[in-house]
Amino acid sequence: MEKQEILVTAKSPSNIAIVKYWGKHGCQLPNNPSVSFTLSNCYTETSVTYIPDLKNGMQFLFEGKESPKFKEKIEKYMEKHGGLYRFDTDIFSHLKVESRNSFPHSSGIASSASSMSALVLCLLKLEKALENDETPLDLRRASMLARLASGSASRSVYPVMALWGETSCVSDSSDEYAVPLGDMTAPVFKTYHDTILIVSNKEKSVSSRVGHALMEGHPLAEKRYLTARHNTQRLLEALRTGDLTAFIDIAESEAVQLHELMATSNPPYKLVEPNTLKIIDEIHRFREKTHIPVCFTLDAGPNVHLLFPDEFNEKVSAFVETKLKYYCVDNQYISDIVKGF
Ligand code: DP6
Repeated sequence: MEKQEILVTAKSPSNIAIVKYWGKHGCQLPNNPSVSFTLSNCYTETSVTYIPDLKNGMQFLFEGKESPKFKEKIEKYMEKHGGLYRFDTDIFSHLKVESRNSFPHSSGIASSASSMSALVLCLLKLEKALENDETPLDLRRASMLARLASGSASRSVYPVMALWGETSCVSDSSDEYAVPLGDMTAPVFKTYHDTILIVSNKEKSVSSRVGHALMEGHPLAEKRYLTARHNTQRLLEALRTGDLTAFIDIAESEAVQLHELMATSNPPYKLVEPNTLKIIDEIHRFREKTHIPVCFTLDAGPNVHLLFPDEFNEKVSAFVETKLKYYCVDNQYISDIVKGF
């Protein structure tokens, strides 16, 4: 085995799904296709140092501090899927992994997509460094390996937009990895902003892992997967043609449906808060009054993602500053934009 220390680094963004992945089976395979925007400003930066003399197993530091919960997640991933990398799995116990997020830890933003994809990109770079291979990374393989760590992470390896899950509309789509959609997307979507309104910065009461599991045997599951398939087809068409009306309709109905599935699961639960609903009302009123094609989506949490094309940035930013930020905890919001090529 190599005796020298090797340092690799990677930066990977978060993404926001328009058609949601909610429900999985087998080895991290999705029950329906999902489509997301890749973001620019919300990202994780990770460094992995291979230290041949490292004793006592893998080290993990998140923002400079030990984080046993996250370390356990990485160790489980390595135990289960480490054999898929082209190096000896003994290497894992000689790694020092350091990770930090660009967004505040207390923003309540899900970080598994950015953190897990950044980790996988580092491991693939390490693989290449050990083989003295200078060819570019295989993003499809990166997406597949990231999916095994966290489903949504599979979509973060590509700029602009990504599709994860098989659909007859995109020939090389797969449940095993995501594919880039940048070339199939009208120019307006490449200018999209995502302003993340932080309604709560507390840790979610029900994790996505539990949420996915509650889809098993959910009375609305089969209907949901059909709707998501249909919405994927409609969204791909809207993205191609630049149809903002259809985009808004799909984005908002997917967000509402995600939270309806939570409300109707067994046991039922609720992640939205009163201010989430007030913000949604304000967005609808603003859209009706101004005819600006602004809409919202929600993650598995109470924060509202405000989506709009760049040409309306000035007016929408004024709306956020004068109205929406007052519904946010400490008036906090994050201005993000779709990651370009
Ligand atoms: C609501 O990717 O966090 O954000 O595969 O268990 O890690 P795991 O789940 P995760 O689920 C994301 C759910 C979602 C929708 C989406 O991003 O598509």
